[in-house]
Amino acid sequence: MTKFFFALIVLSLGAYAGAQGFDWEAIGEATYANCAGCHQTNGKGVPGVFPSLAGHLPNIVAKQGGRSYLIQVLLFGLQGEINVLGQALDGAMPAWGASLSDEQIAAVLNHELHSWGNADLLPADFALILPEEVAALRNARLNSSQTYELRTALELDPSD
Ligand code: HEC
Repeated sequence: MTKFFFALIVLSLGAYAGAQGFDWEAIGEATYANCAGCHQTNGKGVPGVFPSLAGHLPNIVAKQGGRSYLIQVLLFGLQGEINVLGQALDGAMPAWGASLSDEQIAAVLNHELHSWGNADLLPADFALILPEEVAALRNARLNSSQTYELRTALELDPSD
């Protein structure tokens, strides 16, 4: 009988974990090792060279289309002049679609959206980015100028 209840608990915990998605915190932190060289461990980037993700990414998810834009920047890269927190930049963000899995891309975005004070700035209805959403956008096969057009369509403020 005890064994039965134990099995029941293990089964329900498994279902709970499945419903909650995945272990994004550990995977996201590990995956951020690929990003820290440019965006820095404090998420603030390098002025005029690499954009800050701190205080910035929540402004993107708050925009309609911002969530899928973020996923596509990771998958396909970005090239073109942008303004981030009032700073102009004109660099290139490498594409990660070939080297990172759907799970790693979703996890690293969740990691960034919850680090460096960003969690407090997220829209109230923000839900975790799931690996399934990344999988669904892979087929878009955009290039880095097309993701730039997606970014322009978000109509971000230069100070965002
Ligand atoms: C080689 C340097 C470099 C690395 C490594 C790098 N990035 Fe970037 N990233 C950039 C640059 C430069 C830009 C801005 C591109 C531009 O000016 O058009 C950028 C832009 C971004 C943007 C879009 C910001 C916006 O305002 O649209 C996100 C999100 C992002 N990076 C996340 C990541 C993540 C996550 C990783 C790790 C998986 C990563 N970056 C790794 C250089 C880098």
